[in-house]
Amino acid sequence: MPDGELKDIALYVHWPFCLAKCPYCDFNSHVRDRIDQGRFRAALLRELAHEAARLGPRRLTSLFFGGGTPSLMAPETVAAIIDAATSAFTPAEDIEITLEANPTSVETANFLGFRDAGVNRISIGVQALDDDALAALGRQHSAASGLRALAIARENFARVSFDMIYARPHQSAAAWQEELGRALAEAPDHLSLYQLTIEPGTQYATRHARGEIVLPDADTAAALYDATTEAAARHDLAPYEVSNYAKPGAESRHNLAYWRYLDYAGIGPGAHGRITLDGSLLATRRHRAPEEWAQRVERDGHALTEQTEVPPLDRAREALLMGLRPAEGIDAARFLARTGTALDDAVDPQALAALAEEGYLRRTPTGLIATAEGRMRLDALLPLLVR
Ligand SMILES: C[S@@+](CC[C@H](N)C(=O)[O-])C[C@H]1O[C@@H](n2cnc3c(N)ncnc32)[C@H](O)[C@@H]1O
Ligand code: SF4
Repeated sequence: MPDGELKDIALYVHWPFCLAKCPYCDFNSHVRDRIDQGRFRAALLRELAHEAARLGPRRLTSLFFGGGTPSLMAPETVAAIIDAATSAFTPAEDIEITLEANPTSVETANFLGFRDAGVNRISIGVQALDDDALAALGRQHSAASGLRALAIARENFARVSFDMIYARPHQSAAAWQEELGRALAEAPDHLSLYQLTIEPGTQYATRHARGEIVLPDADTAAALYDATTEAAARHDLAPYEVSNYAKPGAESRHNLAYWRYLDYAGIGPGAHGRITLDGSLLATRRHRAPEEWAQRVERDGHALTEQTEVPPLDRAREALLMGLRPAEGIDAARFLARTGTALDDAVDPQALAALAEEGYLRRTPTGLIATAEGRMRLDALLPLLVR
């Protein structure tokens, strides 16, 4: 089948291990004294082969190694997965292959290995450029090692992004602007800037409940968000999604696949996917605990714990929740084709009219867009809007 006729697929690979558990993090990440790289490599390759066999020929538009801390993968493991994925599927000419990296010295030493394995975009967890703040966040690296990792990444990868966390306890707008300014001086073409959130079940949640951690109030958080967007704009970085900023053309194609509600497959512990098989849209999820996941893959060839067809109304709901996050908003024709529901039938018309009147949403001739003001308040808007 010619390349142009293949259905697209984005592939997510989860690496579930970290050097230490950060007290704010609720991702599926685990600390182990020793990681059996050979075992996890073999299991990931086996689960990938299983998924590829049932998906059939596809055009692979992006591959994303997320975690956990994928920079703790041996470069040979990354290479083996990239080779297997690009053999099983037809890689798009401009395939984006991203790996999330933490900036400790051990991991930075592997950057060349990741590049040689085929990674062409690296996303570094800088998080803060203040050593006290990094210690409070439980990070295993300093601000200097964050900057060093960025410099090495810029020399070796065509595309570099980094993550920071702001709206931290006691953080003033002035201090954040100074810190962000130093980060922006590194001339990134993509940034993910997240406001600290208290996730249930984390150590921060316990400390927050005890009053030991106090987050900025809503007005301060909004001011910090505005200051962030203004500083990014001075460096030509547009807020193309709630927490993501990019120069034109440098947007994360993998994340755009999620927000556009396109097909993506997820392998590895706890990974989820949305894939079309035989005309049905399926929600998939894998077993979360790493060793149990590996055992299941060794026994069955996969560790799927959930595979359900997404009913039409849920499709529309999910496509709305994802689609209003990026600044491009929702394309009505794509929405209808993907969900089987017309965009106007998926939203409450009165809520839409009221939210548009207040300047949070905009119905355009071709779709629906959340304004910058609306994107900041999506969690509050969506329950009103979605039928
Ligand atoms: C799963 S982490 C993976 C990256 C890598 N392990 C690291 O920590 O840099 C993805 C990103 O989510 C963000 N994140 C995780 N928990 C968060 C929280 N509670 N509040 C805000 N951002 C958070 C961090 O910026 C982190 O870089
Ligand atoms: S924030 Fe990153 S390094 Fe820290 S525990 Fe979560 S996934 Fe691991």
